[in-house]
Amino acid sequence: MRVDVLTLFPGIFEGPLRESLLGRGISSGVLDVRVHDIRDHATDRHRTTDDTSFGGGPGMVMKPEPVFAAVESLGPGDRRVILLSPAGRRLDQALVRELATEPWLVLVCGRYEGVDERVAEGLPAEEVSIGDYVLSGGEIPALVVLEAVTRLVPGVVGREESLERESFESSMLDHPHYTRPREFRGMAVPDVLVSGHHGEVERWRREAAQAKTRRNRPDLVPVSEGSETMADRPAIDDWVGRYVRAWESNDPGAIGDLFTEDATYFTAPHREPWRGRDEIVAGWIGRKDDPGTWLFRFEVVGVDGDVGFVRGWTEYTVPVPDADSGRFGNLWQIRLSEDGRCSEFIEWWMAEDT
Ligand code: ADE
Repeated sequence: MRVDVLTLFPGIFEGPLRESLLGRGISSGVLDVRVHDIRDHATDRHRTTDDTSFGGGPGMVMKPEPVFAAVESLGPGDRRVILLSPAGRRLDQALVRELATEPWLVLVCGRYEGVDERVAEGLPAEEVSIGDYVLSGGEIPALVVLEAVTRLVPGVVGREESLERESFESSMLDHPHYTRPREFRGMAVPDVLVSGHHGEVERWRREAAQAKTRRNRPDLVPVSEGSETMADRPAIDDWVGRYVRAWESNDPGAIGDLFTEDATYFTAPHREPWRGRDEIVAGWIGRKDDPGTWLFRFEVVGVDGDVGFVRGWTEYTVPVPDADSGRFGNLWQIRLSEDGRCSEFIEWWMAEDT
């Protein structure tokens, strides 16, 4: 695949094009990436590439002539010209797949407040945005397009298989990944992944990917699926993992993210429950010691409908008033809502060694 990049800042591309996947694709000859300085195509003495905006307003606008001249200098041939712009069509994996089938792409990096509209209209160039935020220029977006597209070009990514499972290839996020060590800072790799049971591993990954998608990107979940009650083992695993980390970090945002707006939280049934996310966060922060004074272990013992049952062992590293020891055994009963947040948490206190 050939890609020509037109920019006012060719230096930005040096590192990324030398390293890693892009670097290897280029040195192996699978990718032919050429970076051109638009300024080389300005014709006046000052090599001007921008000017003030007709109609007034702050900021400069990129002039059309040097951009047209730069594209035309590439010579004839069938190519798809993309103008990186926050006002463009949003890049997604479907567009990436489409672009990956093109033999020749031209990426034009806009700068300043904008690019004269006649570039999009007259070249013509398709405007593409990498997301709903504004950067100071199209160089980083061009690199995003370049990397997303070229990794689908055969021969760029080593094992084709590793592309298939990735996030978005199936309208779902990728499943969680783990490597050694099996336990790290109290966080254990789910047992099923080391069971050697290929079918079970596949099932866990599918469910974990669904759970993650529901939590991080509910907009990707089909309406029929999203409206079902859910609780599956990976969703509970995931929630408890986040719960433990929130305890350890004491971060109000992380705590709040765990619960639905109207959640109920019974920390041992003999206490008054906390009702609603705000009360849970305030109560939690008020009751807890400094971050890092609690140690947790947990094990998901079962799931029934939308409720998970989890054994938890808590150890305090500072003395606890009115308690014989700093170690507690709990059974947590966790009801998850459709978006993976907890709507009801009940903690049953148990003897430490049960
Ligand atoms: N130029 C500035 N912001 C951009 C964005 N979000 N996408 C593409 N080009 C841009």
